[in-house]
Amino acid sequence: MESQKNRYKNSQINIILHENKKIKSENSTNFRYIENNPFKNIDEEFSTFIGMNKLKSTIKEIYATIVINEKRNELGLKNTKQVLHMLFKGNPGTGKTTVARKLAKLYFDMNLLSKGHFIEAERADLVGEYIGQTAQKTRAMIQKAMGGILFIDEAYSLARGGEKDFGKEAIDTLVKHMEDNHNDFVLILAGYPHEMDRFLRLNPGLKSRFPFILNFEDYEVDELLKIAKQMAAQREYKLTKEAEWELRNHLYKKTQERLTNFANARYIRNVIEHSIRLHAVRLLEQDRYSSDDLIYLTARDLQLNELS
Ligand SMILES: Nc1ncnc2c1ncn2[C@@H]1O[C@H](COP(=O)(O)OP(=O)(O)OP(=O)(O)O)[C@@H](O)[C@H]1O
Ligand SMILES: [Mg+2]
Repeated sequence: MESQKNRYKNSQINIILHENKKIKSENSTNFRYIENNPFKNIDEEFSTFIGMNKLKSTIKEIYATIVINEKRNELGLKNTKQVLHMLFKGNPGTGKTTVARKLAKLYFDMNLLSKGHFIEAERADLVGEYIGQTAQKTRAMIQKAMGGILFIDEAYSLARGGEKDFGKEAIDTLVKHMEDNHNDFVLILAGYPHEMDRFLRLNPGLKSRFPFILNFEDYEVDELLKIAKQMAAQREYKLTKEAEWELRNHLYKKTQERLTNFANARYIRNVIEHSIRLHAVRLLEQDRYSSDDLIYLTARDLQLNELS
């Protein structure tokens, strides 16, 4: 379980450590093998992630490869090491950061990483202001991420200033260490699809170093509604039928517009949190309320026109 979150005061680094630091045992995952259902653990870990089928099947492939490698090892057959560096492409709120965090835990449980911590960095954490400083800063960040995941959001900002920019030095340093340390360090670069594609075009050697390139698609209305109901349920609320109907109509319009800044599941989280506040005000104002009133968010509580 995630137990500790450190946010460094002046930067964007988040470090999440796991409570029960298990010692990485030789050649075996911490997952319990379940007869006739080898992927039960993975299904459970991802049960709250709506959609994302490609991601789920990729994780199953990785896990299956580990287990089969262990069996092959027992027979003295060759063991193929997996390179796990990933690129995440997706619009705002499609789950990139949430998934990367989850993978840190999962890879630790699968014994692919020794610590399973998660470090989030952005350009300012890697790029320095004078010659030589960038390589140093980037190396320090990789060192911190050893045994865990280094997640670089808006990775294309490293290519912002072209050839002369120090961002290039950060990319070169990352590439060098990806190969040296690929057994106990996973690099995930994330960003919006167009910008990431451009970034990869500008750095032609990069793409082939990432065996996993995952597209986080915009959510369909049905998926957004499922996410809304789940987010409400996690907070022990429910939506009335009318509220659901109103939200569905609103989301149809929103997804038709498909503005590039539509924040997908994050938008839904804002809708739910906003309506929880309005619901509270309404109940206080009406003075009397039943236990059902305490549970149900109504169409009136949504006030969708107030959200951008
Ligand atoms: N498939 C999903 N099922 C349930 N909740 C989801 C799903 N995808 C995203 N969310 C939720 O939506 C919110 C936003 O997700 P997240 O921050 O991971 O998006 P992101 O792709 O990193 O966005 P950005 O590009 O803006 O950083 C989080 O609260 C997350 O839990
Ligand atoms: Mg994010």
